[in-house]
Amino acid sequence: FDIRLSDHRVSADERERLLEKPGFGQVFTDHMITIRWDTEHGWHDARLEPYAPLSLDPATAVFHYAQELFEGLKAYRRADGSIAAFRPQANAARFNASCERMAMPPIPEETFVRSLELLVDTDRDWVPAQEGHSLYLRPFIIATQRGLGVNSPSSSYLFIVIASPSAAYFTGGIKPVSVWLSEEYTRAAPGGTGAAKCGGNYAAAFVAQAQAVQEGCDQVVWLDANEHRWVEEMGGMNLFFVYGSGADARVVTPSLTGTLLPGITRDSLLKLAPDLGIPAAEGRISTDQWREGNASGELTEVFACGTAAVITPVGRVKSARDEWLVGSGEPGPVTMRLREELVGIQYGDRPDPYGWIYKL
Ligand code: COI
Repeated sequence: FDIRLSDHRVSADERERLLEKPGFGQVFTDHMITIRWDTEHGWHDARLEPYAPLSLDPATAVFHYAQELFEGLKAYRRADGSIAAFRPQANAARFNASCERMAMPPIPEETFVRSLELLVDTDRDWVPAQEGHSLYLRPFIIATQRGLGVNSPSSSYLFIVIASPSAAYFTGGIKPVSVWLSEEYTRAAPGGTGAAKCGGNYAAAFVAQAQAVQEGCDQVVWLDANEHRWVEEMGGMNLFFVYGSGADARVVTPSLTGTLLPGITRDSLLKLAPDLGIPAAEGRISTDQWREGNASGELTEVFACGTAAVITPVGRVKSARDEWLVGSGEPGPVTMRLREELVGIQYGDRPDPYGWIYKL
């Protein structure tokens, strides 16, 4: 890495002011990482440089055909003052899996992780200390070839990492969200890009999210493309269904059919829950099973999970035909337990027998 430090660092006072109420993804640190790739040189020209706008030709491929993808993970300031990321190698692996689907060059895992390390180390003062806050890291890659031809992938790319001190993703504390079952729009079809973290998946979701809001709900729930019957995801998050309660509670999350984003929080909960005595399985659940399981009391809680919002309870469900409360509509005990344990590992208040914590 060629290291070019910023000489326009904001003052410590200004930084402290920004860190008080950072919101989510609104405030950015002083530096960024950039690494270039082209067919001739492969990966080259790695830099740590001042955070700054990019200058790109209007004919740059990414603006036209959306050949780009991203990752998201967090660095936490822990009780002992140290800073750690959560499973960055898992993000590197998913980044490269997304690259393969989008015909983009994979980046060596150690380069990906080293980028995060270098950026966080340089901008350490930006890692928030407030409870529930963290430094959200956003690695992404864009196609930079100039030209409008669409017969082949770009011959050059730019990998960038930026960092954003952030508060909770959903405002208002751990408040259950209401969801709209979208039968009009689909997020992903078999053979499509649903398992890749490409920006286009999120662009195509806005109209459905707007419809959910119009229906008086917070978030959209995506159903499968073929039958509009099987539950897939909620907005940009995976879903978990809790059956039973107390010592008999177990959780089920939709299987990775190729149309779901393989969430790292999802994967972590599949490992963590059984160790807490809560059996966890992948499976499938239809909207009818959700409705009926809820009515019979067999299905007790539902929550969404993801890096940004960690674990968020689902309190109310609305479809074109009906509407129901999930359990009592309040955050359930299994949801809250899993959240506490996971957050405890991330912030260093719980041991990490899984090796998920990566000290920075
Ligand atoms: C997550 O971290 O849960 C997400 O994927 C949301 C992100 C796109 C802001």
